[in-house]
Amino acid sequence: MRQVTATAAPDTGTTAAVRIVGVEKAFAGRRRGAAARRALDGFDLEVREGEFLCLLGPSGCGKSTLLNLLAGFETPDRGEVVVAGDRVSGPGPDRGVLFQTPMLFPWLTVLDNVLYGPRARHELTTEIRERAVELLETVGLGSAMHAYPHELSGGMRHRAAFARVLINKPRLLLMDEPFGALDAITRLAMQRFLLELWERDRTTIVFVTHDVEEAVLLGDRICVMSGSPGQTRAVFPVDLPRPRDVALTDTLAFAHLKRQVREALEEGHR
Ligand SMILES: Nc1ncnc2c1ncn2[C@@H]1O[C@H](COP(=O)(O)OP(=O)(O)OP(=O)(O)O)[C@@H](O)[C@H]1O
Ligand SMILES: [Mg+2]
Repeated sequence: MRQVTATAAPDTGTTAAVRIVGVEKAFAGRRRGAAARRALDGFDLEVREGEFLCLLGPSGCGKSTLLNLLAGFETPDRGEVVVAGDRVSGPGPDRGVLFQTPMLFPWLTVLDNVLYGPRARHELTTEIRERAVELLETVGLGSAMHAYPHELSGGMRHRAAFARVLINKPRLLLMDEPFGALDAITRLAMQRFLLELWERDRTTIVFVTHDVEEAVLLGDRICVMSGSPGQTRAVFPVDLPRPRDVALTDTLAFAHLKRQVREALEEGHR
């Protein structure tokens, strides 16, 4: 297979925004006496500053576990999880997490949802408020900022959740199948939106998806996992031009890489 490296290390000489070394994670069985379930086993990964890394792998291979370790919601049994040079010891606003289902408080307006984090941390200033309004305008929710989540469409809710994360200016965005539940058109719109945002800010992103096409369209590199327990199976650099647009999916180069990634995914599943 062309351009496949066995390790998940980025090019040498670049700063690592994320360093995961020899991580093991097991979960106790639900029933008493049941064997522990090994979610990750000796997992290594480095993500460089400003990189858009996509994680692909079969269901249950440990993708969400990995994001939860990076977010600080879980701790590894063994190994190291380092973000921006610091060992992860718990959640923090430096890492923004977006799930498949947008997390919004239903009793708060869109604007108050975005302001929730700064308010909870007693950091709410006029400047932050102005930034929240600006952010909502950027994500196309300028006229919906006083609406409640139930009044929004699925895509609008995703964008609101995005703004809620972005207000914290995270250094690392952790996205767990964020567009998985969306219809095709909204999904395309969200992919475009994310690409624009990334072009502008170049925030480091770890993006979990089940969709090979989505991974090739968005990522700088694609880490294909096999499971379970989860390990890196192959890493593909995506040498497609940027800025990218969904029209790229019609090109031969795109189709070629997509096939290689799909084959690696299928082999890991056997
Ligand atoms: N909190 C938990 N308690 C017990 N087992 C867990 C827990 N979280 C994950 N697991 C187990 O760890 C393994 C990896 O789960 P994980 O959710 O990370 O997989 P995934 O790759 O995200 O799957 P999917 O693609 O379906 O979302 C699975 O066997 C799962 O059952
Ligand atoms: Mg998952």
